[in-house]
Amino acid sequence: MLRNNSIWTLGSALILGAVLGWGSASCNVRKNPPEFLFPKSSTTKLQDLKAPKYGDAEKAIEEIAKLLGKNKISRTKDSLDHHSDAYFSSDHPTEDQRPVAVIYPETTEEVSLIMKICHKYRVAVVPFSGGTSLEGNFIPTRKGICVDLKKMDKVLELHQEDLDVSVQAALGWQKLAQYLNDYNLLFGPDPGPGACIGGMASTSCSGPNAARWGTMKENVISLTVVLADGTIIKTKKRPRKSAAGYNLNGLFIGSEGTLGIITEATLKLNVKPKVENVAVVSFPNISAAGSAVAGFIQEGVQLDAMELLDDKMIHYVNVSGKTSMKYDEAPTLMLKFGGLSEEAVQSQIKSVQAICQRNKNTDFKFAKSEKEKAELWNARKVALLATIDYGKKYIDKDIQVWATDVAVPISKLCDCLQETKDEMVKVGLAGAIVGHVGDGNYHAMILFKKEDREKTAKVVQHMIDRALAVDGTVTGEHGVGWGKKPYLLEEVTPDVIDLMRKIKMALDPYRLLNPDKVFAIDPNDDSTI
Ligand SMILES: Cc1cc2nc3c(=O)[nH]c(=O)nc-3n(C[C@H](O)[C@H](O)[C@H](O)COP(=O)(O)OP(=O)(O)OC[C@H]3O[C@@H](n4cnc5c(N)ncnc54)[C@H](O)[C@@H]3O)c2cc1C
Ligand SMILES: *[C@@H]1O[C@H](CO)[C@@H](O)[C@H](O)[C@H]1NC(C)=O
Ligand SMILES: *[C@@H]1O[C@H](CO)[C@@H](O)[C@H](O)[C@H]1NC(C)=O
Repeated sequence: MLRNNSIWTLGSALILGAVLGWGSASCNVRKNPPEFLFPKSSTTKLQDLKAPKYGDAEKAIEEIAKLLGKNKISRTKDSLDHHSDAYFSSDHPTEDQRPVAVIYPETTEEVSLIMKICHKYRVAVVPFSGGTSLEGNFIPTRKGICVDLKKMDKVLELHQEDLDVSVQAALGWQKLAQYLNDYNLLFGPDPGPGACIGGMASTSCSGPNAARWGTMKENVISLTVVLADGTIIKTKKRPRKSAAGYNLNGLFIGSEGTLGIITEATLKLNVKPKVENVAVVSFPNISAAGSAVAGFIQEGVQLDAMELLDDKMIHYVNVSGKTSMKYDEAPTLMLKFGGLSEEAVQSQIKSVQAICQRNKNTDFKFAKSEKEKAELWNARKVALLATIDYGKKYIDKDIQVWATDVAVPISKLCDCLQETKDEMVKVGLAGAIVGHVGDGNYHAMILFKKEDREKTAKVVQHMIDRALAVDGTVTGEHGVGWGKKPYLLEEVTPDVIDLMRKIKMALDPYRLLNPDKVFAIDPNDDSTI
């Protein structure tokens, strides 16, 4: 089997060699296959690659239109713009970075057809689900097409007794939550409003619930993926664990659309806690709040969620009018307690109160009703939008926002938070700090006028330097996308990037899928790493 395969591969190399006219004698190729076709190294350096070449997107679109129908293709300016950028993203495309067309497939087979055609014509493809990612993750750098999975938004199969569900890639997490509510089940990851399973898996997202239920990496059982040449694979069957071969879920989760297009996923579910309570705790400063969080974790108190909002964030939420409650404008922890019984929850609350007191909390309020509980979490969910609204209304109508995230080991959290906050105040930039602090993950949402972009970039760079200095990561959940490529190189050694590039080249040798994201793929492009 193996032998046949290798002969076949060499055979294809020979044919390819003859077509491309390498060397004079094909037997030379047989003895010495060219290094770029059969490299001997375990990693791929950027300078060892040739520049990618992309073909005629129009030809591909014409063929796709014939097979799928014209009504699944959109070329309006609005649609091309919408699939290139979002106001709240930290990075934006240039004016000509637009896809040539947006295609809306309805089945995995249609996605496969699209990829086969794009593979034939060598057209770049950017997958798109909810469009809520924040690091320029879907900027179309190569005039290719965008594959929007929007029409693939169904729940396929619920296995209530096994606690798993199979869904299509563009099902939104909020719709899934609504659906699961009737069964008293929940799915953990809860990122930006509007995000969908395919994009969530691709960015390895998380959210407030991750400290308790895990990130996307811990919650996927299997994925159906269309590869760059149109091959359809399903990574696993349905048990909660499997040691059968490579962890391909892990390969695709967090790959940001650069290795394949996810069309379906089977996800782990959890039973909703029987008893739930929510509290809001204020602290004298952000480092005291961070220190309380470290206390919960170090003492093994298992909360269902713990979110940090600094005084500015509370102010923005407060003036936004998006919540009926007004909060103390101080660094605040929003805590969610959950368990099987009232006693279990009360015992959690007791431990938490003691830790908060040690950190000199100034207030400790419980939500009084179901409505108040929901509203509290909503306050956290609208944080970014409340920040933007505030900036537009009170600072500048053209205000920009840079939302960036890092994660650090929990014992380092309070210093990092305090220093980042101090720096923002010192350089005079408005904005807020929020965080899914149970995972040592926090975000700065910096408001800036266009002319202050460089100043803002410095604050972001320092936040990243600070995280790296304490063995943290340059992104806990938003991914690398376009904007964080240089920072990724600061976190890992060049060999790590070269290994990722090797994987990319193995799966997608024409570099069609979401080109130029996560790391550079073009040796001629000196603007990228
Ligand atoms: C208000 C707000 C709050 C947010 N809060 C959080 C948070 O708490 N936690 C968090 O982690 N993130 C958060 N985010 C960021 C964002 O919601 C997440 O990154 C989310 O996972 C993106 O999902 P999406 O469906 O919008 O993906 P998209 O933006 O559509 O795509 C993201 C990336 O995945 C690729 N992709 C999309 N679909 C597929 C597919 N089917 N197959 C392969 N690749 C694909 C795209 O090419 C792109 O590179 C927030 C964003 C906003 C605007
Ligand atoms: C934050 O508050 C705590 C508790 O009151 C105090 O001990 C600490 O010195 C304060 N830190 C800063 C940076 O102000
Ligand atoms: C909250 O916002 C309101 C205006 O909406 C303001 O009157 C109030 O002082 C703010 N702060 C607090 C602590 O309520």
